[in-house]
Amino acid sequence: MSLNRRKFLGAAGTGGVLLQTRRSAAQPPGAPRNIHPGVWKFRFGTPETITPVATRHYPPATAGLANLPGVETCPLSVSGSGSRRGYLVRIPLGPNEIVYGLGLQLQSMIQRGLKKRLRVNADPKMDSGDSHAPVPFYVTTAGYGVLVDTARYATFYCGHKDRRGAGQSVSEQGPAEISQDALPAAYRRYRFNQATEVLVEIPEAAGVDVYVFGGPRMRDAVQRYNLFSGGGPLPPRWGLGLWYRVKNDYGQEDVLKLASEFRDRRIPCDVIGLEASWESHAYSSTFVWSKKYPDPAGLVKDLASQSFRLNLWEHAFTHPDSPIHQAMIPHSGDYEVWGGLVPDFLDPQARRIFAGYHEKEHIALGVSGYKLDECDNSDFTGNWSWPEIASFPSGADGEQMHCLYGQRYQDTLQSVFERRQERTYGLVRSSGALAAPYPYVLYSDLYDHKEFIRGVANMGFSGILWTPELRNAAGTEDLVRRLQSVALSPMALINAWYIKNPPWKQVERDANNAGRLAPDWESIEAICRTVMELRMRLVPYLHAAFVRYQRQGLPPFRALVMDYPDDPATWAVDDQYLVGESILAAPVVAGQAARAVYLPAGDWFDFWSGQRYTGKQRIEVKPPLEQIPLFVRGGTVLPLAEAALHTGEAASWRISVQVYGDRPAPAVLYEDDGAWNPSLTEVTLAWEPPGSVRRSGNGPGPRYEVAGWKFVG
Ligand code: GAL
Repeated sequence: MSLNRRKFLGAAGTGGVLLQTRRSAAQPPGAPRNIHPGVWKFRFGTPETITPVATRHYPPATAGLANLPGVETCPLSVSGSGSRRGYLVRIPLGPNEIVYGLGLQLQSMIQRGLKKRLRVNADPKMDSGDSHAPVPFYVTTAGYGVLVDTARYATFYCGHKDRRGAGQSVSEQGPAEISQDALPAAYRRYRFNQATEVLVEIPEAAGVDVYVFGGPRMRDAVQRYNLFSGGGPLPPRWGLGLWYRVKNDYGQEDVLKLASEFRDRRIPCDVIGLEASWESHAYSSTFVWSKKYPDPAGLVKDLASQSFRLNLWEHAFTHPDSPIHQAMIPHSGDYEVWGGLVPDFLDPQARRIFAGYHEKEHIALGVSGYKLDECDNSDFTGNWSWPEIASFPSGADGEQMHCLYGQRYQDTLQSVFERRQERTYGLVRSSGALAAPYPYVLYSDLYDHKEFIRGVANMGFSGILWTPELRNAAGTEDLVRRLQSVALSPMALINAWYIKNPPWKQVERDANNAGRLAPDWESIEAICRTVMELRMRLVPYLHAAFVRYQRQGLPPFRALVMDYPDDPATWAVDDQYLVGESILAAPVVAGQAARAVYLPAGDWFDFWSGQRYTGKQRIEVKPPLEQIPLFVRGGTVLPLAEAALHTGEAASWRISVQVYGDRPAPAVLYEDDGAWNPSLTEVTLAWEPPGSVRRSGNGPGPRYEVAGWKFVG
């Protein structure tokens, strides 16, 4: 079956000077327009012309939208009014209705009760709404989602503001009662059993479009939003292997030496990323290879001969020495960053110049993708970015540009990969609304392991991908525990940008850089290798989960509440998450000798011991260092590959199937030839028993080979 819908819309509605009139009169609620199955649009006042929807590049995935369960009527009535401060939208919120989303919120999962100002920020240290990727979209346990189409730092008051005279009703029997025990202490002061409203204040705007996504379940609403965004990305298989970024002063020889060492020492790795030293000037960027990389084409070739891909770090700020600097001057904002121009990626000319140079000098040589750094904002940490009052040739001001920059930057480079019909997977430090189709994973300079795990649980509400990358560590335990979280995430990334040797040789930064290796580093390396091998064994399963993300909008990593919204015990669980259809991960952080794991309804099997547990209970686990707690849902056929060194190896296609529980549902894998629009062959693994393999579709194959079946229990 073809996935032929990876087409950009092209620049839509982004040129010209903006004439924005302010309307202060109250707008009637207005009837929503049904624009796709289960999707309604409210228009209030005169919306701005630069918004996520107006500047989108991917069209909605209409075929996927048509396949979701039908929803007859819009589940909400929304109202809006203008004010001196901009525009205000009010959305009702019922008793015991829990709110999730708003983008990459690292400090909180439940948003009900909180005020969030969705400001793009590179150091989101407080739970204020600052984020690398704030997304003006939320979903609730009542089974709908709301997108406020704005490129402003909108403020969401998610309940808990009592308007005088509004007479909020309190329900003794909400849709599901919340047990206070299920909530973290910080939430206990909020009266969740009261009807209230979500207030959204949008600065500057004289109107706004609001999109409502029906369910009937929360998971359906998320799928609908992701499909409206264009559907999830399908990373190339190599993107799902291990990633390693080298220290920022590495040269060509250092990279090749490390690559050979990885193969010799059997360290799985598919992608090597270069940091700043590949550029002749990095802050700001020239995009020109430095003297440390005298033969880039040779490097790509040498790496490819050992089955490594090469990824390049950069940011967009264009240094005066860059060959594109002169051409970019008329297509850049009126402020500089680190002495470089800020290309206006809403301007098609800027995109063309930038993309053309990247294609010719990097992508045509075989560079597989990019890490797009510092496209977020930096208000109170270094203050290196452009101010909100900046202006751009497209008519955008600095605030709008901050909200859209990450995605329009991705669009610019995606246009090259699309033209060449090559799939990519990369990193980006900022994103926003309608992000689902982008094959780019968010990361951060923050480093709290618990917050990083929460990021994996939270990302699925907002159509974004996130990696809890590993850098240095406080000790062996911290190293291994972090690596385990990395292995169970959208991108298994070791970001050694400030350490010379792999972290398993020495976790401590200064000692590592001085070459003082840990005496027992080989045994630490052995533990890390096993963790990386677990990732490699999961590649086919993860790839299939991404196919579902693309076709059905179902996030490959999601919080428990998304699948079990009727069970209040799942509502606040932000330290566990679901991986694909059938695996529950409960990562451990250093210092946690034991941890509680909540198992939702049904049977669950401990991945390591095979022990069966009855769900709807909290259990305690004491995982040895080598094991991340993983549980497999009863009724699962779980395909596991052999632990390959990279995804091109035959072992990566050789499957052992593990069967859990009675009457397991068949598993579906997809044979993927790596093309831009791959024709995928569906491979259905069913336990009848014995096991059977069926293929359908006219894609490539056969590639997967089933080496054996095991009935676990
Ligand atoms: C940071 C980035 C790091 C690393 C570093 C290099 O902005 O988050 O991952 O790339 O720059 O200077």
